[in-house]
Amino acid sequence: MAKYIKIFDTTLRDGEQTPGVNLNIREKLEIARQLARLGVDIIEAGFAIASPGDFEAVKAVAENVKGVTVASLCRAVEKDIDRAWEAVKNAESPRLHTFIATSDIHLKYKLKMTEEEVLERAVAMVKYAKKYCNDIEFSAEDATRTRPEFLYRIFEEVINAGATVINVPDTVGYTTPKEFGSLIKGIRENVSNIHKVDISVHCHNDLGLAVANSLAAMENGAVQIECTINGLGERAGNASMEEIIMGINTRKDYYNISHKIDTTQIYRTSKLVSGLTGINVQPNKAIVGANAFAHESGIHQHGVLSERSTYEIMTPESIGLPQNRMVLGKLSGRHAFEERLKELGYSLSPDEIQSAFEKFKDLADRKKVVSDRDIEALVEEKVSKVIEVFELDSFQVSSGNKLVSTAMVCLKKDDRMIVEAATGDGPIDAAFNSIERAVGFTMTLESYDLKAVTEGKDALGEVTVRVSKDGKTFIGRGVSMDIIEASVKAYLNAINRAISEIGDEIFDSKPDMALQ
Ligand code: KIV
Ligand code: ZN
Repeated sequence: MAKYIKIFDTTLRDGEQTPGVNLNIREKLEIARQLARLGVDIIEAGFAIASPGDFEAVKAVAENVKGVTVASLCRAVEKDIDRAWEAVKNAESPRLHTFIATSDIHLKYKLKMTEEEVLERAVAMVKYAKKYCNDIEFSAEDATRTRPEFLYRIFEEVINAGATVINVPDTVGYTTPKEFGSLIKGIRENVSNIHKVDISVHCHNDLGLAVANSLAAMENGAVQIECTINGLGERAGNASMEEIIMGINTRKDYYNISHKIDTTQIYRTSKLVSGLTGINVQPNKAIVGANAFAHESGIHQHGVLSERSTYEIMTPESIGLPQNRMVLGKLSGRHAFEERLKELGYSLSPDEIQSAFEKFKDLADRKKVVSDRDIEALVEEKVSKVIEVFELDSFQVSSGNKLVSTAMVCLKKDDRMIVEAATGDGPIDAAFNSIERAVGFTMTLESYDLKAVTEGKDALGEVTVRVSKDGKTFIGRGVSMDIIEASVKAYLNAINRAISEIGDEIFDSKPDMALQ
């Protein structure tokens, strides 16, 4: 019989530690709901003590997302454990995930503790956590650079103290598949009470080996794999869930592993996470990259046309990649549009459908054929559902090689119009400057990305901006056939997010409400 592997998703915790990523509660909830739909066993929803925002997000996931275990990370410190428990206690199935470093290098330079002190703390804190919760995961941070004998000892003692899962993190992405496999085997053979718990692994990708290391661990007895969507995470990221799952499925003949991931939700989940985090997936990324199922060379195209399996080891349908059909045009009615939304897997409220339909009609007037990718881009532009304090009414930009770029924007706030103009180094800079004058505060633009949603000169342009304000980062997205309009919408989207998170203190001056 196939062995069952539990999937522990840490996109909302380790994934959120990706530089530049800052998700708000609504966005975290949206991702958590999608992870539950995808079928993960455990969602690590955050590090509750890290900030009030993290605490609220973990609590919201615990209280609202059903059918999964919800975990919060906590150091092996009483106040961390108290806070984590407060956040997860209302989950259908709560878990506390406590950790302490165990390698010589961390003990000496970070913790300034001896092995005996670390052991004592780990045992005491597992016992402390056990007062609250039955499901306790213990992680030995930097396990792969820890003396194996110490690792065996600490695992044995925390299991005696009540841990139900022991996690073996390759914190700095240092190990190799064979070495990691042997370490897991060593744990199985040298920890006398190991049969009482699940062995988990948590691999980082610094040497590009996170997935290979996780699979090697699984072959040697690990039954829980910690991973993230799109491989997000600290530095080079964590093991990518989609790669692990499709590896297991495609090589079922070799691994003989079962899990409960619905692979047809992979593409949707990857899109949602890249949209909300603003971290684009590289085109050649395995499974979810734009080129993962594209066949460029003539020989390959010919082979795939006569028999797909010549060059395709898995099908695009298996990850839920929509066929890019192009059948909707300006004569398509609302019913056909709604049907297509359903086929694409969206379940939207009547208001959302209406707004998407209006945008579709507008696009269909300007573009001959509207494809599935266009529809996705239109719908996902609004995926974060941020409150639009400022709404774009209109804008005008003039620019040229011998002109100073000038922009004028007209924004709606409540029932007022705010009109401002500014110059800049190019049309986009001018447009962003005029928006800042209109809203009454400035932001730092950290990055700006523009990509075409489909091929063709009439393609939609999708702009993602990352801006920062008061040390916080915000992502904004905008879609339009006009790339300046897409840029303006993206900037405004980031501004509205910043306002909803920072509140009124964000304003340097009150926006000028006098102009009608
Ligand atoms: O990488 C790591 O060691 C971690 C632990 C806290 C599990 O993220
Ligand atoms: Zn980690």
